[in-house]
Amino acid sequence: MTITIDIEPLSDVLGVAVRGIDLRQEVDEGTQDELQDLFARHCVLCFPDQKISAADQRRFAALFGRVDGAYRSKSSGDLKESATRGVMLVSNIRKDGKPIGSLPDGEMMFHSDGAHRQYPYRATTLFGIRIPSTGGNTLFANLQAAYDALSPEMKERIENLETQTVYDYAAQDRGTIGEDSTLPRARHALVKTHPVTGRKSLYLSRLMTEKILDLDREESEALLAVLFDHAEKPEFVYSHKWTPGDLVIWDNRSTNHARTDFPEEEQRLLRRYTVSDPAAPLGN
Ligand code: OGA
Ligand code: MN
Repeated sequence: MTITIDIEPLSDVLGVAVRGIDLRQEVDEGTQDELQDLFARHCVLCFPDQKISAADQRRFAALFGRVDGAYRSKSSGDLKESATRGVMLVSNIRKDGKPIGSLPDGEMMFHSDGAHRQYPYRATTLFGIRIPSTGGNTLFANLQAAYDALSPEMKERIENLETQTVYDYAAQDRGTIGEDSTLPRARHALVKTHPVTGRKSLYLSRLMTEKILDLDREESEALLAVLFDHAEKPEFVYSHKWTPGDLVIWDNRSTNHARTDFPEEEQRLLRRYTVSDPAAPLGN
C-alpha cells in the first residue's frame, strides 16, 4: 500500500513541503518513486515535523543515491555500516573550545556541495535540530530557471565553456578565493544538463567557481560577475526559515544554496548527510 502524501509549494521558484509521512518508518516503493520524482522536478523537498535519528536520516538519504562516507573509513577495510559514518554536523557550537561542526559559522556565500570534486554530491540532506531565533536561513537558488532566463546570445556564449572550481570555504570574499594552490579543485562544464529531467542549468557559484577556463583572468571575472549576479536574483531564490524537525533535501545539480547570518551567541545545529551518484568512484 502506498501512503498518501500531502504536498504544498515552498515558493514560486522551487521546493515543496511534503507532509503525511513519518520518516522513522521505512518508505514503501510507490512512495519512494513519488519522492524521487518530486525531488527531480522541484529541486528542494522539506519534510516538516520529523523526529528522526541519524540512522533514519541515513536511510532516507539512501532513497536518493549512495550515501557518502559509508566506505570512506581509512581503518583498513572496515566497511561495516554504522549510523554515524558519513554524518556531518553543521553547527556553531563549540565543545571544549573546538567546533563540533565542519562548516564555517555565520553567513555563507552561494555554492553547490561537492563542486570541488569531479563527481559532486548529487544531493544534500539537512535536519534542523537547534535553530536561532532569527537569521540562519538557507537560501536556495534555482539554476535551471536562471539558465532559462538568459538571453539567447548569453546562452550561446557560455555553451561550451568550462570552469575550475575550488573548495575554499574559509574565503570571505572572491578576492581571496583559491589563494592556496593545494586546495582541492575540479573542472566542470558551465552549463549542465540534468540527467533526470533533461533541463539545463548554470553550474557556477560565487564561493566555488574560481575561474572560467580558456578566458584570461579579467575576462573570466567579468563574465562570472554578471552570471553570479544573475543566478542570485531574488526571483530565482527561496529563503528557507528553519523550524526544528525540518528535514530538507536539495539537488546540487540544479540549485545553489547560501546561508544568512545569525546571532553568534545563539546556537544553530543541523545534521547532514550527502548522497552521490552510485556510479561515481568512491571518495573521488
Ligand atoms: C551545507 C550548507 C547551509 C546552512 O550543509 O552544505 O551549506 O544553512 N548549509 O547551514
Ligand atoms: Mn553547502
